[in-house]
Amino acid sequence: MNPTTADDKSYLGECRSVTITSISEIGWHDTRQILADIQATGGPQASQWDKTWDPHNAAGSSSLIEITSLHGEQHKFIVDCGWDEEYMARRFEETGVARMVERGEIDFLFLSHEHLDHLWGLQTVLRLRPDITLRIPPTFTQEAMAFILGERTAPTHTGTKPRVKHTGTIIPTPPGKPTILYPGCVAVVFDLPIPLGIHGEQSLYFRVQNKGTVCVTGCCHQTVTRLADHALTHITNDATLHGLYGGLHIAPFGPLSAEQGQMIADLRRFGFQKIAANHCTGPSAIEKMVELRYPVIPGNRGAITFG
Ligand SMILES: [Fe+2]
Ligand SMILES: [Fe+2]
Repeated sequence: MNPTTADDKSYLGECRSVTITSISEIGWHDTRQILADIQATGGPQASQWDKTWDPHNAAGSSSLIEITSLHGEQHKFIVDCGWDEEYMARRFEETGVARMVERGEIDFLFLSHEHLDHLWGLQTVLRLRPDITLRIPPTFTQEAMAFILGERTAPTHTGTKPRVKHTGTIIPTPPGKPTILYPGCVAVVFDLPIPLGIHGEQSLYFRVQNKGTVCVTGCCHQTVTRLADHALTHITNDATLHGLYGGLHIAPFGPLSAEQGQMIADLRRFGFQKIAANHCTGPSAIEKMVELRYPVIPGNRGAITFG
């Protein structure tokens, strides 16, 4: 065996491939409406739990992850569970993920952060499987924990269906070092204040054999630069990265600012081979990546395989 150095990251392991399917990447239907809702009740600093939201504007962000180990074993989990219950139930049905949850094929639901469009659809999953394991950032607010435990509803709750209590295990990801979920699949918590009165987001990294590192994010409130720099410092010994998937939160609400344009230009140094950005990345940000001839592929439909 080769001697390892103090900064060797091989202890994180490798996987053969990871396939990501967008269950839904639309957080909300109408951006003007969500901005109006944010402003009307205290602005971006006020807690999402105390605000009034138009329930008809709710959609949600959620993805299915399928990972193949070096030995050929398959593991599946879900990242985030969207917002509107009816809409998300439909998307889970249409993508076949509902049956996977019912059959117990989904190892856990990984919640990237507690924003409304990532967490408030939880009942949809609990109705299929109340004891599903939840992996959460350690920074969830009291309101988020009460919501998970069935002690409160979301402000947009309108349905009359009985609430399902979560009966499974809740695993907060430890802050600090990467947490190995499977060989070659790790979670990292980014501790930071996030608009709408929440705190902390966790992201995923996959070390794919013969390809490199794939970064997967819910909203990437920590910024895509920090996400990618963290991979080079703590996840891989390589000088570049292989893939990028998910919401990058660059220009979610409109045209690109100079600072946001600079952030996209700065992405070049990571050497990504495949970028499947969706959700809160913003159309203007994706257009800029295409203009810069980055290897952009649609992140909003079908399954995308890295490996
Ligand atoms: Fe989001
Ligand atoms: Fe978010």
